[in-house]
Amino acid sequence: MKEIFNRRSIRKFLDRPVEKDKIDLLLKAAMQAPSAGNQQPWEFIVVENKEALEKLGRMTPYSKPAAESAVTFVLIANCKELRHNTFWPQDLSAAMQNILLEAVQLELGAVWMGVATNKAAEDYLIDMFHFPEYIKPFALVALGYPDGQMNEFTDRYKPEKVHYEKWNG
Ligand SMILES: Cc1cc2nc3c(=O)[nH]c(=O)nc-3n(C[C@H](O)[C@H](O)[C@H](O)COP(=O)(O)O)c2cc1C
Repeated sequence: MKEIFNRRSIRKFLDRPVEKDKIDLLLKAAMQAPSAGNQQPWEFIVVENKEALEKLGRMTPYSKPAAESAVTFVLIANCKELRHNTFWPQDLSAAMQNILLEAVQLELGAVWMGVATNKAAEDYLIDMFHFPEYIKPFALVALGYPDGQMNEFTDRYKPEKVHYEKWNG
């Protein structure tokens, strides 16, 4: 699938909004992800307000792309009634990857910005959004039309990482 091979982290964005139908497609793609026990623990805060984007850009030294993005999603897990309560980071990762791939398909740029398990970043979002204890901040994804950067192939295939039948490090 070309979106997998061409996807790159895009950190610079044009001053151009992302259309509402594209935002909806990104969220639909996220919610198509697999999840443990099909619990779908994900929730999404869609941030387009400039002040809030700038505040997200100050979350960590690596979250600056949020400040100039057209829209940033805050991915959170609702752990209130989870039967399997250890799998949510994996569920949210699958949702995140779907967003990144859908963004390529929509000719957008995107970058995943880690939150869990950086306590300072988690606390920053808990303070910003007043999350109760059962809402776990997972990550940010900044989105927009790329400015000077492109989704383009880089070859990362390393045959030495593949083991057949047994590990032979
Ligand atoms: C868990 C995780 C956390 C990341 N956090 C950040 C981040 O905070 N800021 C950032 O600019 N990129 C972040 N990235 C993006 C990586 O730096 C990027 O995926 C990696 O350098 C490979 O480049 P590529 O995405 O262009 O293929 C993160 C990626 C992952 C998977």
